[in-house]
Amino acid sequence: MTDSTSSTERATPRVGVCYFPEHWPRERWATDAEQMVEAGLEVVRLAEFSWARLEPTRGDFDFEWLDAAVETLGEAGLDVVLCTPTATPPKWLVDEHPDILQEEPDGTVRGFGSRRHYCFNSPTYREETERVVERMAEHYAGNPHVVGWQTDNEYGCHDTVRCYCDDCARAFRSWLEDRYESVDALNDAWGTTFWSQRYHSFEAVDPPRHTPAEHHPSRLLDYARFSNDSVVDYNRLQAKILRDADGGDDDADAGGDGNDDADEWFVTHNFMGDFGTLDSHAVGEDLDFASWDSYPTGFVQDRREDAASAAELRAGDPDEVSMNHDRYGAPFWVMEQQPGDVNWPPYAPQPAEGAMALWAHQAVAHGANAVLYFRWRRCREGQEQYHAGLRRHDGSADRGYADAREAADAFDDLDLAPPDRRVALLDDFEHEWALSAQPHAPDFDYWTHARTYYRALRARGVDVDVVHPDADLSAYDAVVAPTLYLADDALAGRLAAFVESGGHLLATIRSGVKTPANQLREDLAPGPLTELVGATVDRHESLPETLDAEVSYRGDTYGFRTFGEWLSADAATVRGRHESGVAAGEPAIVDREVGDGSVVYCGVWPEEALADAVATDLLDRADVAYSDRLPDTARFAHRDGRTWVLNFGLDPISVSAPDDATWTVGGPTVEPAGVAVVDAPSARLSVERD
Ligand code: GAL
Repeated sequence: MTDSTSSTERATPRVGVCYFPEHWPRERWATDAEQMVEAGLEVVRLAEFSWARLEPTRGDFDFEWLDAAVETLGEAGLDVVLCTPTATPPKWLVDEHPDILQEEPDGTVRGFGSRRHYCFNSPTYREETERVVERMAEHYAGNPHVVGWQTDNEYGCHDTVRCYCDDCARAFRSWLEDRYESVDALNDAWGTTFWSQRYHSFEAVDPPRHTPAEHHPSRLLDYARFSNDSVVDYNRLQAKILRDADGGDDDADAGGDGNDDADEWFVTHNFMGDFGTLDSHAVGEDLDFASWDSYPTGFVQDRREDAASAAELRAGDPDEVSMNHDRYGAPFWVMEQQPGDVNWPPYAPQPAEGAMALWAHQAVAHGANAVLYFRWRRCREGQEQYHAGLRRHDGSADRGYADAREAADAFDDLDLAPPDRRVALLDDFEHEWALSAQPHAPDFDYWTHARTYYRALRARGVDVDVVHPDADLSAYDAVVAPTLYLADDALAGRLAAFVESGGHLLATIRSGVKTPANQLREDLAPGPLTELVGATVDRHESLPETLDAEVSYRGDTYGFRTFGEWLSADAATVRGRHESGVAAGEPAIVDREVGDGSVVYCGVWPEEALADAVATDLLDRADVAYSDRLPDTARFAHRDGRTWVLNFGLDPISVSAPDDATWTVGGPTVEPAGVAVVDAPSARLSVERD
C-alpha cells in the first residue's frame, strides 16, 4: 500500500452497498436511494461491469445514465465509489480484437459470455483500458459525490491471473530476459539438464502449456511470478490514470471516513479471500488501501478441503475470514460483504439470523473502515439471479437489510484508531506458488498450514497482523513464520536481527528448502536459517492419514498431519520427539535462546492441541497476554480499547468479564451469530465452555 495506509487516523466505520442502477428502471432510483439512507448506509459502489452501457459502440460514450444515478445518490447524501469497467470488455470490442481473449494451457480460448475474458498482457487491451479509464476519470474529476475508485473487479477471479496466449508468450520471454540476462543463466538457475529441457534462446521458452507429464517446477514458479507481475503492472496503469486525472494527489484518504474533497479521491481494488495466484501485497503498493470481498458461507464450501460444519454453513469460519482481514491490513474496506444466500458455492443455505451484521462487526473489529454489502437488490437477469441482495427482487427488504441497518446504527457512535498488534504472522505468495508446483502431498497447502498457527493464536484471543516478510518487524514481540520455503540470506539476517534484539520467533516445516529459482539448495534445510534455529532437517516425509503421526512435546503426546521432519539438533534444545513410524525417537521440535530473544522450530504440521501448546509457549516467552482457549466458534478481537465478542456458533455463549468492565454493545450472553462489545482486554475475558 502507499504510505498513507500506515495511517493511525481514527475513523467512524461506515456501511454501504454495491448498486447496479442500470438493472432497474430509472423511476426506481430515488426510492432505492431513500431506502439506503433509511438503513443508515453512507457509501454506494457503482459502474462495475458497465462498459457496454457506457460505450455502446466504439467512441460513442453515454455517461448520461451514470451521471443521473450519481446525482440521485449523491443528493440523497451517499458517497459514490466508481469502478473502472474493465473486467467485462464488451462484445463489439471482442469482435474487433479477438486477440484480447485469454487462453487456457491447452490453447482453448476463454471466450465472450461471462467476465474476466481479457488478457493482462494484450497490448491492444492495455490501449483500450487507457482509453476507457481516461474517459471515465476525466468525466468524473471534480464530481463532488465521487470519493474514490475501485480498479477493475477481483483481478484473477475464475482463475484468470495466468493466461497462456501468444501475447503472454512474448511478454514472458522478455520478462525472463530481464531477470536472467542470458539464456545460460536461465538454464543454470532452473536446472534444465533434467529431462533434456535445455533452452538455446529466450525465444524458445513458451508459457507452461499442456504437456504429457508434470511441468518443470522452476518454469512454473517463474510463470507464476511473471503472471503476477503482469497484473501488478496492469493495475498500476489504471491507478496512474486515475491519479493523474485527479491531479496526482498522494494524500488520498487512507480508508478513513471517505469524506475527501472530490479532487482527492482514493484508488483501491477489491481482492478476494484466500486467493493464491495474485500477490495482494504487491498490487497493494499502488493502492491507497486494500479492499476485499468477503463471503463467509461460500468460502467454507469452496476454499477448504474438509467438510463445513453446520455452524460454518450458517455463519462461516471466523478465522478463515479474519485471516484475510488481517492480510489486507488496517485500515481496509470490505468492498463486498455477503448479504444473504449466494449463488456460487455448491449449496446456498440461508445464513444464521444476524450473521450479516456479525460479519460487519468482525470486519470493523479487525480494522475495516467501511463494509459494503453486495448487492442492493437481487437481480432478475443474468448469471446471479440466485444471489441475494439487501432487497429482494420485488424490491422489498430481505434479511440482510435489517442486519445492514443494525451494523450502521452500531458504528455511528464509534471513533476508532486502527488495531495495534504485538504478534505477526508472515505471509509470502512466492512460497505458495513454489509449493503448489510441488506440494509433495495432496493436502499440503501453504495457507491451510499457516492457518493452523493463526487459528491457535486467535483461539487464545490474540490479534495477529498478517504481513509480508519484508515488513518492518521491530514493533512485534512475537513472529510466526510458517514455511519459509524460499528463505534467503537476507530474510535469515532480518529474522536473526529480530530475535537478537529480543523478538521471539516460531519457524516451521519446509523452511529454507529451495533457491529463488525453485531448485533444492545445496545445503540441507532450513538452509540460511540453520544457524539461527540451531538444527538441521535430516529427513522429511509426507504422510497419508492411514500412517500414525505422533510426537511428544514437553511431556505430552500429540498428533500431527501431512508432513513431518526429523531434525538433528546442534545448538538447539530438543523439546519434542517423534513417537511413531520410522522416525520414532528422532527430534521433531527444538528451541533455543539467541541474544535477547528465542527461536522455536516445529518440524511437524501440528494438530490443534499441539499448535496451541507451541503457540502459548511462544506467547509466554514474548510476554503477550492471552485468554483461556475459546471454543472454535467464539472469537475475541481487540481494537482501540474495546474487545468484540463474536459468536459464530448456533448456541448462545456466556462471557465472563472483569466487574468494572462496561458493555457498549450487548452483554455477557451473546446470542447465536451475535456480537457484544466490552471495554476490557481480551486476555481478561473468558467464554464458558459446556
Ligand atoms: C464477487 C464478484 C461480484 C459478484 C459476487 C457474487 O466475487 O466481485 O461481482 O459476482 O462475487 O458473490
